[in-house]
Amino acid sequence: MTDDALVIFTPSGKRGRFALGTPVLTAARQLGVDLDSVCGGRGICSKCQITPGYGEFAKHGVTVEDGALSDWNEVEARYKRIRGLTEGRRLGCQAQIQGDVVIDVPPESQVHKQVIRKSATMRDIVMDPATRLLYVEVDEPDMHEPTGDFERLARALKEQWQVEGIAAELSLMRRLQPALRKGQWKITVALHKGNHDARYRILDMWPGYHEGKLLGLAIDLGSTTIAAHLCDLQDGTVLASAGVMNPQIRFGEDLMSRVSYAMMNPGGDKEMTSAVRTAINGLIQSISTEARVDPKQVYELVFVCNPVMHHLLLGIDPVELGQAPFALATSGSLSLDARDLDLAAVNHAARVYILPCIAGHVGADCAAVALSEEPNKSKDMVLIVDVGTNAELLLGNESRVLACSSPTGPAFEGAQISSGQRAAPGAIERVEINPVTKDPRFKIIGSDLWSTDPLFPAGTAITGICGSGIIEAVAEMRMAGIVDQQGLIGSPDQTGTARTVPEGRTHSYLLHDGTALGGPRIMVTQGDIRAIQLAKAALYAGARLLMDEMGVDTVDRVTLAGAFGAHISPKHAMVLGMIPDAPLDKVTSAGNAAGTGARIALCNVGSRNQIEETVQQIHKVETAIEPRFQEHFVNATAIPHATDAFPHLIGVATLPQVSFNTAGSGGEGGRRRKRG
Ligand code: FES
Repeated sequence: MTDDALVIFTPSGKRGRFALGTPVLTAARQLGVDLDSVCGGRGICSKCQITPGYGEFAKHGVTVEDGALSDWNEVEARYKRIRGLTEGRRLGCQAQIQGDVVIDVPPESQVHKQVIRKSATMRDIVMDPATRLLYVEVDEPDMHEPTGDFERLARALKEQWQVEGIAAELSLMRRLQPALRKGQWKITVALHKGNHDARYRILDMWPGYHEGKLLGLAIDLGSTTIAAHLCDLQDGTVLASAGVMNPQIRFGEDLMSRVSYAMMNPGGDKEMTSAVRTAINGLIQSISTEARVDPKQVYELVFVCNPVMHHLLLGIDPVELGQAPFALATSGSLSLDARDLDLAAVNHAARVYILPCIAGHVGADCAAVALSEEPNKSKDMVLIVDVGTNAELLLGNESRVLACSSPTGPAFEGAQISSGQRAAPGAIERVEINPVTKDPRFKIIGSDLWSTDPLFPAGTAITGICGSGIIEAVAEMRMAGIVDQQGLIGSPDQTGTARTVPEGRTHSYLLHDGTALGGPRIMVTQGDIRAIQLAKAALYAGARLLMDEMGVDTVDRVTLAGAFGAHISPKHAMVLGMIPDAPLDKVTSAGNAAGTGARIALCNVGSRNQIEETVQQIHKVETAIEPRFQEHFVNATAIPHATDAFPHLIGVATLPQVSFNTAGSGGEGGRRRKRG
């Protein structure tokens, strides 16, 4: 009989020989196995749970006998009696090695557990939060060896957790002595170390062992909406997700109008800063209520935002961002106290991390998309389009990544559209037009039925048309020959349907008439088509500019990002010419990639270094001063495009060769003559 034994950990496969009597937690630590512990092996926290396996393990070449681990001791038995322990589980800090053994570390006992994302196209997040709970036992004071309580706490953290260099602000220092005495020299601290911090920072403390939650917020601060995910910092679970409108909209719909507001109105920037901070505090309150947690348990926040939102959140006048050379006050990442941003809803000591901006027009939201979608690791040439009021685009692969932003305006979000509305129940979101009868059918948000179904909700249930609905409507009108390549809606004679009705000198297409039942009459007007053409041309021109800079004429795949991007049909986006031609199965949606990037940065402190490095390597292309942008823009106003070929699209969609630009009955196009 030997006095040591083989220990194999799964799923890591790490193995080593250990003296009999070694606690499993100690063996795990020595092998670098990811096994959690908050109480430092004192049998209090139960974070170290493991499952020993018995019998033959042919794969590992080992047979595990009964008795490979020590018998249950009093600490484990008490824990099981009082708190309960799943059958077959042991506490790794109590069970000792007595023979060759295979030990499984379940996901919930891993510090760096993976948070599996639901969609296959999205990557998992490996937990490595900047804030952790640690339990320590501190030496009592000794008159013969006078040291402060804080210094003895620091010593205990160093000895018990190898944590060196701690700091605490005065308000926490005031709470230390009562907490230590109440806990009889045992204390749990919430310890934070950001990616640039030299020292650990105590964010909170509790007498004795504390089992509370550590929460974090990943916030995507957009020009139109503010979206937040409330996450458990210990296991990465999203407890709630919520969004509110950005109240700055009352100062201007798009970014430049908000910059103008700051320029024209003394103190305007401060007004907008205060409005957005108030809204964020309100959002924190409501999301916490929804998740039934105390917002004071929020210790970390990560923000992603475009440069103008970034400056207004920080209380920096964005005036420089309104004019060339679009200088940012700072482009680097920022780590600050939440209270510096007046975020009083969260814990007083909470910390904020703001991702770096890429340039004056390409913000931390684009950096977050890069963190989530990793174009810099792509083997093929990928175009990532984050569709919003200000579209952000990334193009590249593992050798080079370019970025730009493009002012698409709010048309894609349903604004500037005659019957437009935000994506909410009642909004038309899917449209199909029969190419023969030219009659439409549609779906609204909140119902799975097509409008032709007898059970489809009628009357006031239909309220308007949202961004994805208008994109589909225009693309379907083009495929049905109701709209020509120039974007002109034909007359009833030209299109063969009475649904195109004259409105002044142009025509509109009647999508739905609900007036008989008290509902709205929903038209797609010539003005709506123009608004969509301008927005999509800006998007396409941005993509084309990046392709020129990269020296490519095609892209291998396209990723549509943004909350809205998730709802766009790839085929309709391509018919419209929003994105360059690509195989349809290579056009995918990444959902709210900026929000995902914020979540990754929240749950994994190492990813912050990663994105800071990646941002340095992303080359920014400035659309506003690039003369070719205008040329690309003009060509891209045609549907799908005036000059660029769409070979993949031709294989899946028929685009009738109609032109309403010739003489016809009325309409803007009818007054012009085709040349030649
Ligand atoms: Fe805390 Fe085992 S480490 S109970």
